[in-house]
Amino acid sequence: MHVNLRESWSLGSVRVPTRVVLAPMAGVSVQAFRRQGRRFGAGLVCSEMVSCAGIEHRNERTLGYLRVAADEHPLAIQIFGSDPHVMAEAARMVEAAGADVVDINFGCPVRKVTKTGAGATLLDDPDRAAGIVAAVAAAVSVPVSVKMRRGLENESRACLEVGPRLVDSGAQCLTLHPRSARQMYTGSADHSLTAELVSLVDVPVIGSGDVTSQARAKAILGETGASAVMVGRAAQGNPWALREILLGGEGRPSREEVVAELVLFMRETVRELGERRAGGFLKKFYGWYLGRGRFPRPFKQELVQLEIVSEVEARLFREVPGARFVLQRIETQQPVVDEVLLDEMPISIYGGG
Ligand SMILES: Cc1cc2nc3c(=O)[nH]c(=O)nc-3n(C[C@H](O)[C@H](O)[C@H](O)COP(=O)(O)O)c2cc1C
Repeated sequence: MHVNLRESWSLGSVRVPTRVVLAPMAGVSVQAFRRQGRRFGAGLVCSEMVSCAGIEHRNERTLGYLRVAADEHPLAIQIFGSDPHVMAEAARMVEAAGADVVDINFGCPVRKVTKTGAGATLLDDPDRAAGIVAAVAAAVSVPVSVKMRRGLENESRACLEVGPRLVDSGAQCLTLHPRSARQMYTGSADHSLTAELVSLVDVPVIGSGDVTSQARAKAILGETGASAVMVGRAAQGNPWALREILLGGEGRPSREEVVAELVLFMRETVRELGERRAGGFLKKFYGWYLGRGRFPRPFKQELVQLEIVSEVEARLFREVPGARFVLQRIETQQPVVDEVLLDEMPISIYGGG
């Protein structure tokens, strides 16, 4: 079957320019990550999961998630919670903030979330899950999508029962990460379930899980009939994976490109989270960008020891002076965004789906 990843598709009324979607990842999907993902060809980007209770209480940290830049669109903002009324109210705010799609999280396996009746637990409570989708769909005029796992337990097929009900309740797109919640991130994603889900619903389905190359993306789209693939871990500190998946080719960046993208990411993250919060947040990204055989391990370790982001930047430029020119080129091509400083970093929960 011929698969063109650069084809556009429709998520309800929203036109998505490519079949590659950047995954929502708690503690990762900051605005810098999403803007970069769009630049490297993701047709749709997502915020990390945002607590609907946090939105309802106008928690300052949570509201930090609702800042949308002009060059992020189309953007899905993902919310999680268990109360249909609170979720509907949160969805209204998400729409007002400028999201093109409201995404609902029924996939988070982390206990801190599931014990509140949110995330993947809702796959075991189809009535409530359907009630949440119906309430959210009635509250907003943008399309509503749902991201879910296969079910709670290994071998569960709950997604195949719940999915069609969610569509009947108003979901205009379903994303399936076909691992169980119990599996967390072990084993592999069983995309035969994605194919079954596609055959059961008449809305687009996005396949999530283990998409790391163009060959894998094409195989999943071809074998399942999904409308798009979602890329998560492969894109951490590695936007070139998106380009490779979309365009093929080697996808291997030069050292100058790696440092330029990392420095741009650091600057934008400092602007978004503030210097203090960004310092800690960024440490995992140093390893992700500079790993994969791109730089020697001691160099990464040296950077992680530095406490101030501007020191890391200076050290990076000392190592790769030519990166300044690459950065200048990227910056001149990027639209300027409003500079808003947030004191508090958003709540992050590792492994939200
Ligand atoms: C660090 C991390 C955070 C995540 N946070 C979220 C989240 O907030 N919401 C969500 O729906 N999925 C979340 N996920 C799941 C991913 O969106 C994706 O479905 C999963 O990682 C499988 O795709 P991959 O193999 O491409 O990484 C997270 C995954 C990781 C690794």
